[in-house]
Amino acid sequence: MNTQAHGTYQRWYGRRTGRRLTITRQRLMMELLPQLRLDPSANLGDAAALFPSPVDDLWMEIGFGAGEHLVAKAARYPNIGFIGCEPYVNGVATLLAKINDQALTNIRIYDDDVRQLMPVMPIACLGRLYVLFSDPWPKVRHHGRRITVEANLDGFARLLRPGAEFRFATDQTEFAAWTLERMLRDRRFTWVARRADDWRLAPEGWVETRYEQKAQARGLKPVYLNFIRTDVDSP
Ligand SMILES: C[S@@+](CC[C@H](N)C(=O)[O-])C[C@H]1O[C@@H](n2cnc3c(N)ncnc32)[C@H](O)[C@@H]1O
Repeated sequence: MNTQAHGTYQRWYGRRTGRRLTITRQRLMMELLPQLRLDPSANLGDAAALFPSPVDDLWMEIGFGAGEHLVAKAARYPNIGFIGCEPYVNGVATLLAKINDQALTNIRIYDDDVRQLMPVMPIACLGRLYVLFSDPWPKVRHHGRRITVEANLDGFARLLRPGAEFRFATDQTEFAAWTLERMLRDRRFTWVARRADDWRLAPEGWVETRYEQKAQARGLKPVYLNFIRTDVDSP
């Protein structure tokens, strides 16, 4: 899959499918996903119109994996509309099963590369954006595939309104430092940490993701970086 972003085509390097889905999950993909799938050609300007009940704000998670965090947040904040982006079919099917079990109505799904969605979303439409345990692409020659490359930061800054939050977490120290370096020199964002525990400890009410649990089981210490969108327009 290719994505047109900032005038160049960028390949998608993630994996699309895993194990064969169970019959129940295949049915959810065929029946529930079309009801919840976000159509990028539809008018996304009116967040409330995306959901059956009016919502006070729109939050997005990029790369929700198996959806633990997204589902927990949606259950905790029924007045917020959530957009979850994830091209991995098995992850989408797992999320659908959770949405179905909990009868959640405030999640919409974009089951593709977020770089295709961001340009068609309205400016300043998001109150919060989560990017959790994103692929670290450790080899230097692959750093351009990281989600926090400058072109994507432009996309995040465009979507987040002043005062909105960007929450990033990773278990890879070098990736955290790489991302922090880019965020600190970008005047559109302010890092809110004041003391080490602000980035060493998960924020209040945090929901652990599958990758986070795997990392902790391997003895890795995740890093939690929270930023606020400023009212500055250029990086
Ligand atoms: C390492 S997994 C982490 C999943 C989950 N956040 C967790 O912590 O368990 C990263 C996920 O991000 C997704 N992803 C990577 N690039 C993406 C993109 N451009 N748009 C949407 N999802 C993306 C991948 O498909 C993958 O499922």
